[in-house]
Amino acid sequence: MRLLGIETSCDETAAAVVEDGQAIRSNVVASQVDIHARYGGIVPEVASRQHLITAIPVVEQALAEAGCGWQDMDGVAVTMGPGLAGSLLIGVNLAKAIALGRGLPLVGVNHLEAHIYANWLEASTAPTFPLVCLIVSGGHTDLVLMKGHGQYQLLGKTRDDAAGEAFDKAARILGLGYPGGPAIEKASQEGDASHRRLPRAWLKGSHDFSFSGLKTALLHLAQRCGPDDVADLAAGFQEAVVEVLVTKTIAAALKQHARLILLAGGVAANRRLRQVMIQQSPLPVLIPPPRLCTDNAAMTAACGYYRFQAGQQDGWKLEVIPGLRLG
Ligand code: KG4
Ligand code: ZN
Repeated sequence: MRLLGIETSCDETAAAVVEDGQAIRSNVVASQVDIHARYGGIVPEVASRQHLITAIPVVEQALAEAGCGWQDMDGVAVTMGPGLAGSLLIGVNLAKAIALGRGLPLVGVNHLEAHIYANWLEASTAPTFPLVCLIVSGGHTDLVLMKGHGQYQLLGKTRDDAAGEAFDKAARILGLGYPGGPAIEKASQEGDASHRRLPRAWLKGSHDFSFSGLKTALLHLAQRCGPDDVADLAAGFQEAVVEVLVTKTIAAALKQHARLILLAGGVAANRRLRQVMIQQSPLPVLIPPPRLCTDNAAMTAACGYYRFQAGQQDGWKLEVIPGLRLG
């Protein structure tokens, strides 16, 4: 089954062609990073206007790069939420128009579920259940037990900032610009995490997370430090986030008798997180390649394939759900 995936939940306009939820034929991502960087963060109205300009060319490019015409396509999968309402609407309405115009089946996809399904793309061995997945993106930090396709049990979540949001705010505090995650990772390479130890919120007895105390501690420390300390502060911050994410994910996976740990979402592109998770986990760990961790439409199409397999089919009435959750 060859699906067109469309993803416009945030600030990337993306389209992809994927076969059987696994083989990527094309994966086009038009980033708006440069446009939003001057504001220091995403401006929702600017994002939707940009999606409007780029969405159709990005879909055309995805088909061209896959060497496909409309007659070669078997369905359309589109992100219906969570995300920015105005941004989601552009993708969903485009997907509806394509599906209606070309007579193709349509499926609405949960963006968080799509992040998880990035682990099925180009995988030499498909993930085995039960597994525990840590989803770490700009808006979410969710620890999820997955017993089968489409079966999710939320074990823990952030009580305040999401992991990616914490990286973005820390980068702003340290004057490292936007987006924060890659900037903190880069600055950390020149720093020594042991020079600046920052607090970890363990929330013992719970699988939840909290990063706002860490952010405040970083702010206070940064006010007492100079420009020479930025790399050490970035490294200290990254180490604190990574240690909490890794320790709590492994504890949850062992408790649930999971066979596998998955990482997903933009923060899973972080090299230190990938390295420490693999080093410390007694269970096998799967992480998508970095380009499939951040927002893309190949993961939307992969997830859509399993939704179609499960019998889901959406029609003209498909609505965006900006606050959509997993499960
Ligand atoms: O999954 P994603 O692309 O979009 C959302 O669904 O939110 O995640 C974006 C988040 C941003 O907060 C960004 O700073 C963070 O992922 N991120 C990283 C890295 N690359 C992206 N955080 C840490 N290290 C990275 N290398
Ligand atoms: Zn995302």
